[in-house]
Amino acid sequence: MPLWNSRFRKPLNYEVLKFTSSIEIDKRLYNDDIDGSIAHVRMLIKKKIISHSDGKAIQRGLERIRKEIASGKLSINWRNEDIHTLIEERLVRLIGERGKRLHAARSRNDQVALDERLYLRKEIQETVKRINALQLTLLSQAESHKTTVVPGYTHLQRAQPILFAHHLLAYISMFERDVERLRDCGKRNNYSPLGAAAFAGTSLSIDRKMTARVLGFSGIVENSIDAVSDRDVLIEFIGACAITMMHLSRLSEEMVLWCSQEFGFAQLDDAYATGSSLMPNKKNPDIPELIRGKTGRVYGSLMGLLTVMKALPLAYNRDMQEDKIHLFEAVETTKDSLRLATLMMKHTTFRSDRFEKQLKGDFALATDLAEYLVRRGVPFRSAHSALGNLVALCNARRCLLHELSLVDFKKASPSFEEDVFLLLYPGASVKGKSSEGSTSPEEVEKALRQWKKRLR
Ligand code: ARG
Repeated sequence: MPLWNSRFRKPLNYEVLKFTSSIEIDKRLYNDDIDGSIAHVRMLIKKKIISHSDGKAIQRGLERIRKEIASGKLSINWRNEDIHTLIEERLVRLIGERGKRLHAARSRNDQVALDERLYLRKEIQETVKRINALQLTLLSQAESHKTTVVPGYTHLQRAQPILFAHHLLAYISMFERDVERLRDCGKRNNYSPLGAAAFAGTSLSIDRKMTARVLGFSGIVENSIDAVSDRDVLIEFIGACAITMMHLSRLSEEMVLWCSQEFGFAQLDDAYATGSSLMPNKKNPDIPELIRGKTGRVYGSLMGLLTVMKALPLAYNRDMQEDKIHLFEAVETTKDSLRLATLMMKHTTFRSDRFEKQLKGDFALATDLAEYLVRRGVPFRSAHSALGNLVALCNARRCLLHELSLVDFKKASPSFEEDVFLLLYPGASVKGKSSEGSTSPEEVEKALRQWKKRLR
């Protein structure tokens, strides 16, 4: 029998119960639900709304239920409407009438909003931890590749040589903003909705600030209607996860490319790649492919929850029960993907010599040569066109820049001198950079030092 059944003259149709039950999803909130209930009981005792002995019996009962659920002794199925109902019913069965005093001045509306905020607080911390672990792994790969020169791309066309460490450091910066976003969302999350009751507050003399304090919140969600009506913080969190997944999907895409024979730059450890059931030669980068694929789930969760909340009138509506499936999906997918991305990056060997020879005299050096001319007083636009002509000349002769003669260079621009040949090496290109945050060895070294301090 549901908790609220006395005003009904018939039991609930079982298909309706099955349709409306959320326990298969919200059972994972049981710990947070019990934590919230215990804080609520402590407040009820303090405010003399229930007696000390009844309150203590309730607390003991709740702790016992916590163990029963953890050990699987208390079975959970769809006949229980949700986790809140299951725990309250079990409590009454365990300690009798005294258990019926727990729900004074509370509704499942503020209860579920509270559980979600408690849950989210822990998950934000865990997600941040996993991002940090990935950043550290990227940092250690960057340390090992601070002299590895690779082609950098725009439009996936070879653009300019860069240090591979610089490329990895870019991801570390991206993930750092993800951490900031999560922490920022964590600040807004950390307000207690408990005591809003159904939505209008209560005539009982509760102390909302006390329960907030006991549960480690920074304060209360002031407006009781707002407290039970919104899920914006969850949307914000899933939005932050979606951005993290977008970043992970880009790293993954690059790993897939780098592992291809065409790039031949990255080699995944055998324990972190899979084979083909048909082609004996295959070694597939499934981890990055799946992270790329799972990004869709988190984008879906974001759109899913936004759509659940769209145009809902205040205050609580049952639609909102559909929030948790999106929240949990986003949390699990993002955490798993972060963990696997960390393992993948740890267990990959990057061939430091892969592009060395190829980049000698490569057109990727054209920008450096244009800047060489600018240093000799040539207007940039003219230098740009001189280099364009040289690239066209090389294309016609099927050769590379270092295979041209000084006469060829001078024909393109009289400002070229013999020392231009010193610039036709990829190492010279990166060394020549001098701007802040550039791929020059000094700037990369500085960034590595700063990140080491910041992350360790
Ligand atoms: N299972 C519900 C949810 O997740 C709990 C709140 C139900 N409140 C109500 N008045 N039916 O949203």
